[in-house]
Parts: sequence; structure tokens; C-alpha cells
Amino acid sequence: MTIRIRTLPGRAERVELLNARGRAVSWLTLVERRIYLAGRPVRTSGIGGVFTEPRYRRRGLMRRVVAAALERMRARRFPLSALFGITNFYDRFGFATVMFVEPDLRLYPNSRATRRVLSRVRTCRAEDRENFLALYRACAGGRTGACARGVTWPWKRRKGWRRVERAILAERDGRVTGYAFVNLERKPAPIAWREASLRFDTPSELAKGSVDIVEIEGRDADAIEALVRWCFRLAKRKNRGYVRLHVMPAHPAGALVRCLGGRVYLAASRAGGPMARVVDQGALLRAMAPGLAKRLKDAGARLPTGGLAIKTDLGSHTILAARGALRVEEGARQGAARIALDPSRLAQLAFGYRTAAELARADEARLSARARAACAALFPLQPDAHMSWADHF
Ligand SMILES: CC(C)(COP(=O)(O)OP(=O)(O)OC[C@H]1O[C@@H](n2cnc3c(N)ncnc32)[C@H](O)[C@@H]1OP(=O)(O)O)[C@@H](O)C(=O)NCCC(=O)NCCS
Repeated sequence: MTIRIRTLPGRAERVELLNARGRAVSWLTLVERRIYLAGRPVRTSGIGGVFTEPRYRRRGLMRRVVAAALERMRARRFPLSALFGITNFYDRFGFATVMFVEPDLRLYPNSRATRRVLSRVRTCRAEDRENFLALYRACAGGRTGACARGVTWPWKRRKGWRRVERAILAERDGRVTGYAFVNLERKPAPIAWREASLRFDTPSELAKGSVDIVEIEGRDADAIEALVRWCFRLAKRKNRGYVRLHVMPAHPAGALVRCLGGRVYLAASRAGGPMARVVDQGALLRAMAPGLAKRLKDAGARLPTGGLAIKTDLGSHTILAARGALRVEEGARQGAARIALDPSRLAQLAFGYRTAAELARADEARLSARARAACAALFPLQPDAHMSWADHF
């Protein structure tokens, strides 16, 4: 069997394993994304469409395809790879869970407030592209796990599970102040944990299904509330039981749930869901360095004298202070404070999914005493880390 790499439209690549007759029997797709880590866009190779034909399964084919994909990423100098995975499969390839599984915040008609909202909501038109792109950048730009979007980002997706059915904008005093992408749930999303969580809703709410806000951003609370209310009106018209927000509780729209009452469902997978893997450790640390320098400054912290050496199976790198900025050097410098961990745990640190202290307590990292404060300042928890449904691959 041989590996073939084919280029697909939109800078995507298909890595395939061909059988003796030259037919693809196992494959995956690589898509290029820029994911914000420490507020900086990091070039990431996203893996999607992972499939082995049923009669070829459990023969190590996907193992070969993933190995070829990782080789390809190294050749193209990607610092990071990410995917949304089934449970207990991708950890064997060095991937670790780096974010919560798709968050699910629910608001019910009886939790609606009577406050007057001042923003007006209207449907999005093609010429609004710049508006919502600017809003996305202003509100989600830099948020851990979010994707950096360019002008070519196809916001009007009509097909597949990343579809956007309705795009709406909030305006106030002639200025666009927020937007939301809204879908009507046709059937519960194919995520097993969600089935389990549904037990907590009353049968009638369940049977009716939801209006789903798959993405929402607003410059202020009024814009967000106006958009959510628009969705309540849609829910009433379409006889849906509740409005579901796909945002983390720490997202500004999560404040509405805390204010009005509702339900918050979060699931953490041990080894599945949103996962990432470090491909090139030096490149990853260099890409994050300006953001890490800002974190240090904001926390009023300093690197230990001699720097911080990070050691994994992928190599050692030392982060050094260089006139207000940070520099990343190959190798572990003599006299540097040290942290040693598995590269999969480094991915969790980079996403702020787990802290260095937490990893040390669980015996998943070795941390010198001098490294503790610096690690805490460089890699704090990121409670709003999330990738929009519309950017999934
Ligand atoms: C998941 C899938 C891609 C695996 O392909 P495959 O060619 O059978 O995988 P391999 O034979 O290379 O398996 C590699 C390792 O994973 C294990 N494995 C295979 N399928 C697995 C599964 N579904 N869950 C957990 N482990 C699995 C194998 O036992 C093997 O372990 P080992 O190397 O320690 O012996 C294939 O079952 C498939 O196409 N499933 C349906 C689509 C799907 O779920 N895709 C993933 C979407 S995120």
C-alpha cells in the first residue's frame, strides 16, 4: 500500500492510503487554520474527515495515514495540529484534549427579562461582510482557540453541519454593534454526551428542539440581549422549546444566562473532543512569544534568572527575556528554571486547559521550584477558550 497526498480546493490536502489496485481505502483531510494562542494567531494544520473503509479497519491503516500527515505537517513547518476527535483514539498519536466539548447554554422562555433593549436587529446582507468581520475581530480576536479569519472567510455556509442558516445584526444609532449566526435544530447534534445531558430537560422542551445561536458577538450587553430576544421570537414562531447558545459561560453572552437563569452544560473528554498536538515546539513557542511577554507584563511577573527551559520528547527550548520581549532559544540553558512534560501536556498548557501546577500535582509535569511563578503567569487557565462551530473541521 502506498501513501498519496492530493491537493484540494482552499489549500486543503487529502492524505490517502492506496490499496494494491491504486484505490484509496483510508484517508484524512488537512485544512489550514490560524488559531489564537496567548492572543497570537498560530498556524495550525487541522485534521478532519478521518475514515478507513469498514472492511479495512483495525489493520493499522489509519496509523500509517496519521504518520504520513504528521510528516507532511513537519515538512510544511506547522507548529501545531488540531482536530475534533472520537474518544480514546487520537491520544495514541500525541493529541490531547485542549478545550471543553461544544458548550451548550440554554435559556428558556420563562427566563426572559422585561428590560428594554435599545439595539435593533435585522437580517444580514452580503454587503455586511466587513461589519461582522470587524466585529468578530474586535470581540473574538485573540480569544484562545478561536480562528483568525480573513476577508475570504465563507460566512454563508449552506451545507453540512457547519451551516449558517440565518445571520443577524444588531444596530444602535446607525452603528453595527453585534451579530449572531442562528440555526434551527433539526435533530440533536451527533455528540453522545449531549444525549445524556438531555435527560435534565423536560420532555416537552426536548421534543420541541431549540433555536441554536452557533456564534454571537456584541460590543455591549444590549446588543447581545437584543440578538437573543430576536431568537426567542423565532423560537415562538417555530414552536421551539428553548434557545441554545454555543458559547462558553465566560463569554459575554454567558453573562445573560447568569443574569436571567438557564442551564449550562459543559463536557470534558479525557481523550476526545477538541484536541491538539504540538508538531514543532520551537515554532509554537516563538509564535506565542509576543503574547507570552504581554501576559508576563500584565501579571507584573518576571522570568527566572537564566530563563525558563521547557523540555519534552520533541526537544528542549529556553524562553529568555530580551528587552521587554521574549526570545526562544534551542536547547535547555544552563541555570534556567525547568519544566519537563509530555508534548501532549504542553498542548494543554498552550491552550490554558490545564495549568502547570495542576499537571505537576497529577505527576504529569516536573517543575522546578523557580519555574512555578513564571509558568503560572505564562500559561494561565483560559476559561473562554472555544472555537466557533462554524470554524470546525
Ligand atoms: C476510527 C477509524 C478511522 C480507525 O481506522 P483504522 O484504520 O481501523 O485504524 P488503525 O487500524 O490504524 O488503528 C490504530 C489504533 O487505533 C485503535 N483503534 C481503531 N479504531 C478505533 C476506535 N474506533 N476507537 C479506539 N481505538 C481504535 C486500533 O486498535 C489501533 O491500536 P494499536 O495500534 O494500539 O493496535 C475507523 O474506524 C473509521 O473510519 N471509523 C468511522 C469514522 C470515524 O469515526 N472517524 C473518526 C472521526 S473523528
